[in-house]
Amino acid sequence: MLDNKGFDLWASSYDQTVKLSDEQEAYPFAGYEPMMEALYEKVCAKGVQNIVDLGVGTGKLTKRLYDAGHHITGIDFSEEMLNIARDKMPKATFIEGDLHHTSKLITNQKFDVIISTYAMHHLTDDDKVRLLRELLTHLNEGGVVYIGDISFETHFLQSKCRKQHIDEWDDSEYYFIVTKLLPIISTFAKVQFKKYAHCCGLWTIQPR
Ligand SMILES: C[S@@+](CC[C@H](N)C(=O)[O-])C[C@H]1O[C@@H](n2cnc3c(N)ncnc32)[C@H](O)[C@@H]1O
Repeated sequence: MLDNKGFDLWASSYDQTVKLSDEQEAYPFAGYEPMMEALYEKVCAKGVQNIVDLGVGTGKLTKRLYDAGHHITGIDFSEEMLNIARDKMPKATFIEGDLHHTSKLITNQKFDVIISTYAMHHLTDDDKVRLLRELLTHLNEGGVVYIGDISFETHFLQSKCRKQHIDEWDDSEYYFIVTKLLPIISTFAKVQFKKYAHCCGLWTIQPR
């Protein structure tokens, strides 16, 4: 799995990697643009929002939200990713830190929308669930958590994709499996999953 230094090295070519993979409808970024577009529309439909983006990276989606007038906080552990995001969004707030300690990074802060795209698969499922529980306590009334990430409906479909893309597959990452995680998240939140490609989906999570 990439650490923050690995992401530093990837930062300058990240946007191009995503574009190629999405255009070829290939793992890992198939569905990236349509999912991001849907996420953008959902957020903008709610009016001007106070948004935090966890694992903001180069700010591909967040820059559009910033240009649309939303208030943006971006968190990431890669200095180089943050440098690119800062250049694109000079008036946004950025926090360099590890998502495993999100609550400490945003102590006492609440947001209308919490976004995380293609970052939470770096956390184990236990850590994802722990983080999601914490995130719900950082939402304003009516707030929403949106997670867009590499997701498979079942373990079987993930294995099928792994076989097809064995050369690029990263066994140290923890992709979302709907049949596993949806029942767990449902125990403490309202949750919906929408698929955008064979390996991509958008999770909408709200307090009960
Ligand atoms: C694949 S990129 C996604 C960037 C952007 N959100 C997007 O959708 O294009 C993953 C980002 O998450 C960050 N990241 C991964 N694990 C992290 C962690 N444990 N703490 C903070 N940031 C992390 C990386 O530095 C990187 O910028």
